[in-house]
Amino acid sequence: MPCQSSDELKALVKEARPYTKNGKVADYIPALGKENPNDLSVAIYYPDGQCISAGEIDKKFTLQSVSKVISLALVLMDRGQGYVFERVGMEPTGDPFNSIIKLETAAPGKPLNPMINAGALVVTHMIKGNSVQERFQRLLSFIQEMTNDPTVTYSEEVARSEFETAYLNRALCYFMKQYNFINEDVELLMDLYTKQCAIEMNCLDLSRIGMVFAMDGLDPLSGKQIMPIDVARICKTFMVTCGMYNASGEFAIKIGLPAKSGVSGGIMGTVSGRFGIGIFGPALDEKGNSIGGMKLLELLSKKYGLSLF
Ligand code: DON
Repeated sequence: MPCQSSDELKALVKEARPYTKNGKVADYIPALGKENPNDLSVAIYYPDGQCISAGEIDKKFTLQSVSKVISLALVLMDRGQGYVFERVGMEPTGDPFNSIIKLETAAPGKPLNPMINAGALVVTHMIKGNSVQERFQRLLSFIQEMTNDPTVTYSEEVARSEFETAYLNRALCYFMKQYNFINEDVELLMDLYTKQCAIEMNCLDLSRIGMVFAMDGLDPLSGKQIMPIDVARICKTFMVTCGMYNASGEFAIKIGLPAKSGVSGGIMGTVSGRFGIGIFGPALDEKGNSIGGMKLLELLSKKYGLSLF
């Protein structure tokens, strides 16, 4: 069902869009550097299948770190909480998403949480399957189930661009391999991880995923419980405590919702029991979060009283 254009959301996009001027498109993954920094779009997806939107709603973007919540859900289902949390922690770091420092200074080699790159790499390592292709396909099918769109796939260009330049992520992997938190070939893991991060969709698809998390893993339209309630709860808790990295505290105060950002400029938000939010605004703040997207969520949260707290 196509999304209905909404005047209320249009007004909020108009108010937030000027903030995109203060941000910068990520270019450490060269293929991401081509995005238009002025873009800002939002979709809200309700459990009854209705959807409202504003902005450049048809633009596709790659999930990047938004995918970390989804791979975590899959791995919790694949392996169970005991296995997963022996290998990745539950604590926020207060450091940037790609920091290596606490890998040495905290429990050596064990990443503090699954939202930072180190933790997400261990999570992706745990995805079950006999080959990179099989593991990727399982993750992709899980995402296609949540978006209810079997055509969702990944951008080969963005995956290749990150694969060719991800020296820091390789360094994180080798560090963790030394301590036995990773025990596969690092190039294979990088192949899988960069494809995961390059899974591509528009705001509508992303808001539908947010809606499934908002409904505790239930897709009310198909009636299927896509993930156990407890898995959705754990993912949403990580979104609150670590979803915006070293901006998570400020985000909790100003917005107060479970949300996950990615360096492509995507943000997935959830309002429990009510709706999912998908945002795209590629201009980022200095912490790697969509600057217009954060503003838009702040306006939305204030206007509709969405904060959990
Ligand atoms: O691993 C990376 O650096 C990227 N593929 C994802 C990082 C990211 O999206 C951080 N979020 N704001």
